Amino acid sequence: MEATTSRPGIVLWMKSHVRYVIVRPLSLDRLPELSRLLAETLSEQYSPQVIHFLRSAWPSGQLLLMAPDGETMGFLLGAWSEKGESRIMMFGVRPQYRGVGLGSLLLQDFLQRTMALGGKSVRLEVRPDNHEAISFYMRRGFHIVGLIPEYYRDGGDGLLMRKVLSGTSGPRCAGYAGNTGISPSGNQTRPMTGHACRSRSGP
Ligand SMILES: CC(C)(COP(=O)(O)OP(=O)(O)OC[C@H]1O[C@@H](n2cnc3c(N)ncnc32)[C@H](O)[C@@H]1OP(=O)(O)O)[C@@H](O)C(=O)NCCC(=O)NCCS
Repeated sequence: MEATTSRPGIVLWMKSHVRYVIVRPLSLDRLPELSRLLAETLSEQYSPQVIHFLRSAWPSGQLLLMAPDGETMGFLLGAWSEKGESRIMMFGVRPQYRGVGLGSLLLQDFLQRTMALGGKSVRLEVRPDNHEAISFYMRRGFHIVGLIPEYYRDGGDGLLMRKVLSGTSGPRCAGYAGNTGISPSGNQTRPMTGHACRSRSGP
């Protein structure tokens, strides 16, 4: 797949091919590629153990976006709370593929998986200076519901955002294996706090 959106013809080509991309759960053989993608996309880095933990807790909540030729273009890794809420832990699209609807596609898939489990809402934390991501979420029905002081490892605050889901269909328990509370360091002692959500190349 072409690796630039700077040329209008390429953007149009990519837009017309968005329908051919595949969203699929993270498989073990994709872990090394995912690690490279995380380093390219997010400022906070996670240990492979954290990703393994997320995958074992909720296999179908870890999503990769694949091009027809098998290239990984984006990812969304989630967690599930026993309160019936999912959480976006790591979410990114390769810089050269942004702005053509791929992030929306991934998010929509994740919201559907949350609703399939009977989830009533989705939450996430984001850096206050990640304006691009904040606007992206707000245009998709998320609201800022709080500020978490010194949320990130470098002491930066985190904005807490939440989207209430409508049309939930009741719990189906498809592939969920437990609660997860994960920090960037992999520490699981503080449930529902501490992940990246900051663009490496953001404003
Ligand atoms: C947030 C992110 C996942 C969105 O992915 P995406 O594939 O660009 O998403 P989409 O194309 O569906 O939508 C992007 C929006 O920005 C606009 N946009 C235009 N050009 C763009 C560009 N070059 N880059 C990003 N967004 C662009 C799109 O038109 C769209 O506008 P809309 O909200 O009015 O529809 C992506 O920007 C990203 O990976 N950011 C870095 C990591 C990050 O911040 N993650 C979230 C942390 S919580």
